[in-house]
Amino acid sequence: MIKQTSSIYDERKLQTAKHADPLQRTAWLWWTGGALMAAGIAGAGILLYAHEIEPLDIQLERLTIRLPRAAGRLPARGLRILHLSDSHFHGGGRTRREHAKIERVRALTSGLDYDLLVHTGDFIHFDDGLENVLRLLDAVPRPRVGAYGVFGNHDYTHYAMEEALPRMWRTFRAAEHAADQRRSRAARLLAAATRWPRYIRYVRNTPLDGRRTGSNDAARLNAALERWGMTMLHNCAKHLYRPDIGLDIHLAGVDDVIEGRPRLGDSLQGIPESAPVILLSHNPDIIASPQLPRVDLVLSGHTHGGQIRVPLWGVAHTQAEHLPRRHVSGFFRVGETQVYITRGIGEGIPLRFRAGPQITLIEIT
Ligand SMILES: [Fe+2]
Repeated sequence: MIKQTSSIYDERKLQTAKHADPLQRTAWLWWTGGALMAAGIAGAGILLYAHEIEPLDIQLERLTIRLPRAAGRLPARGLRILHLSDSHFHGGGRTRREHAKIERVRALTSGLDYDLLVHTGDFIHFDDGLENVLRLLDAVPRPRVGAYGVFGNHDYTHYAMEEALPRMWRTFRAAEHAADQRRSRAARLLAAATRWPRYIRYVRNTPLDGRRTGSNDAARLNAALERWGMTMLHNCAKHLYRPDIGLDIHLAGVDDVIEGRPRLGDSLQGIPESAPVILLSHNPDIIASPQLPRVDLVLSGHTHGGQIRVPLWGVAHTQAEHLPRRHVSGFFRVGETQVYITRGIGEGIPLRFRAGPQITLIEIT
């Protein structure tokens, strides 16, 4: 009996297979082919958008920040700061793209009446970008009080960023190998099973480790900016004292945290204890400095707002060591100190997704 049932079942299966296979196979091929094509088109569309549209779509953000310690030391209408950052100009093959960005900034700032122009670094990516930096500065209206800047890591150095992930993998593996020596067999197995997710978390929360491939001519850049009329704040401060407009605050700048010689103590030296201080720091990791409480407001860039923000996953990486992921751009507080990080207008790898470029008009009241 059992043998007969089994035989009937096999026969039915054979018959079904004979009739359904070609149809099922064709349907499967259509569905799979269609799904792959749709995914390919969507991927190409996203890539095209991230390369050709979003990086050029610079927006002007307006923001009001209240500085309690600056009461009675600001112009009646507030102190207006136009904050630029991370232009990352390459020149050469990117000139057309960079001119489009400059024209966008020109249109956004046309007729703008403001007091301070600040640039928080990464003016250039390569030395050939200098001409476009000066073109950018010429494109915005002249500030009423002055223009100030600090250097970023790319103003000093260039990197092979395509090598960053393999280099970080080697660093991560070396640390894992050392840790394995101290682990039990069970802990080693668990570590091996979770290695990839932990590596991804490491990459997302650590500055990308591109190999240094050369230097930019920072002295030439500095001289050109100073000639243009921008005062560079390398570990120093300026007392912005203009009784005619009611302005009396201190603007400090600190050198880049990664490639420069940051000395926040020098930047703040000599500033009276009660005086309000605004600090320009390319890298927001300056928030980890013990002298931070002396600063009322930090203006930074560097993160590009994560540059790529994956839906349901968040920013690809923060490019900082001390920055919580949720504060990769925008306004937040660290104790009594207020911090604003702009997403900036440029990028090294020319892709942005859901982290659009921006310039910001900050009104200090
Ligand atoms: Fe940058």
